[in-house]
Amino acid sequence: MKDTAPPPSRAAILLPWDKQAAFAAGQSRSAEARLSEAVGLAASIGLVIVHERIFQLRSVTPATLLGKGQVEAAAAALRDARVDVAVVDSTLSPVQQRNLEKAWGIKVIDRTGLILDIFGERARTREGALQVELAHLEYQRSRLVRSWTHLERQRGGFGFLGGPGETQIEADRRLIGERIVKLKAELEDVRRTRGLHRGARKKVPYPIVALVGYTNAGKSTLFNALTGAAVMAEDQLFATLDPTMRALTLPSGRNIILSDTVGFISELPTELVAAFRATLEEVAEADLLLHVRDVSHPDTEAQAKDVRGVLNRMAKDGALDEDWPTRALEVLNKADMLGGVAHVVQGEGVAVSALTGEGLPGLLAEIDSRLAATQEVFELEVPVADGARIAWLYRHGEVLSREDGETRMKLRVRLSATDRARFDTL
Ligand code: GTP
Repeated sequence: MKDTAPPPSRAAILLPWDKQAAFAAGQSRSAEARLSEAVGLAASIGLVIVHERIFQLRSVTPATLLGKGQVEAAAAALRDARVDVAVVDSTLSPVQQRNLEKAWGIKVIDRTGLILDIFGERARTREGALQVELAHLEYQRSRLVRSWTHLERQRGGFGFLGGPGETQIEADRRLIGERIVKLKAELEDVRRTRGLHRGARKKVPYPIVALVGYTNAGKSTLFNALTGAAVMAEDQLFATLDPTMRALTLPSGRNIILSDTVGFISELPTELVAAFRATLEEVAEADLLLHVRDVSHPDTEAQAKDVRGVLNRMAKDGALDEDWPTRALEVLNKADMLGGVAHVVQGEGVAVSALTGEGLPGLLAEIDSRLAATQEVFELEVPVADGARIAWLYRHGEVLSREDGETRMKLRVRLSATDRARFDTL
């Protein structure tokens, strides 16, 4: 059999827009900005966007959210564009979701469903994956309860799915409920051993530089640009790194791991906040946080404040060190939109254009010096026979002096505090 991947889904992004409600909620963003954010989010999980449209909501239609004429107009457009899945960028009640699926004859997901898919794809730590699955199940369970109760479908004959006469909905609810209980117990376990996991991650022998930032700030573009601008570190160890992590050699010869994270999203549904923070857990391990900002965006200040707020909140919960700002560097991206790096007010940050490459050498140098600044001199003793650890020290630190004894070697080495801790776990 030929091993072919299924073709990507053709998707439509539909934004129901209630100008008055948005204004009342204090949202300063335009419908177009919101739509383009949703398009970017959907594209990031591999959906091919073949249709997008804003629908002005004039009155509330409880059954479908969109008005009758809008549902019909959309049906024709969706058919013409051969859409497989419609993303309605709003919160749909389970009933609305089902009614729209019926009217359009395709799968419909809402904003929460879309974001859950994104988190599901990006969660990397065990805790992150569990947290996202939990949020997903709780979302599904709420849909199940409210949308299916009136159907009361009977499922006959399959004893293993519940007692005789048990309805489909009850069986499904029970299965989901059981899975939720199990997941919560597993999460507890993972949290209790979180310290151990961190210890294990520390075995990564290079400092970790993590990219964080608002969705669409250009993190992935910068990630690719930096890996193109620097030398990729050749190392067997990293054969298994996932695609959002890359080992690089900086111009000074220092090796780092660059790690991309899921982007921050405006108006994150509250039930997803915990899942989102869990996907960010890797920032806790980072030696340097690059806060990537789109300086050409009119909301750039508000976005930056949001990002810092989430990180502060993580610090309060103990998921991140309180002193994370000392390990953060702002990258003012999309400088090309403002006429180039020279036109950006830089302050503490470094202006770049991930697109044109302008400012990238400066950014690499700044990363280097920020990592160097955190280094201290340590006196270490290693058995002479332990060639691997000695080589490691030469690779990661600057060996200032060395005294070779009979069986042990004394070295004075400049190392970062994190590398010092890693050395002990080698
Ligand atoms: P998420 O995956 O949603 O978190 O987004 P991201 O932060 O990874 O952004 P991404 O790299 O996907 O870039 C978003 C859009 O901005 C893309 O259309 C990029 O081409 C564009 N972009 C990124 N960097 C620059 C830049 O320096 N200048 C300009 N003009 N556009 C850029």
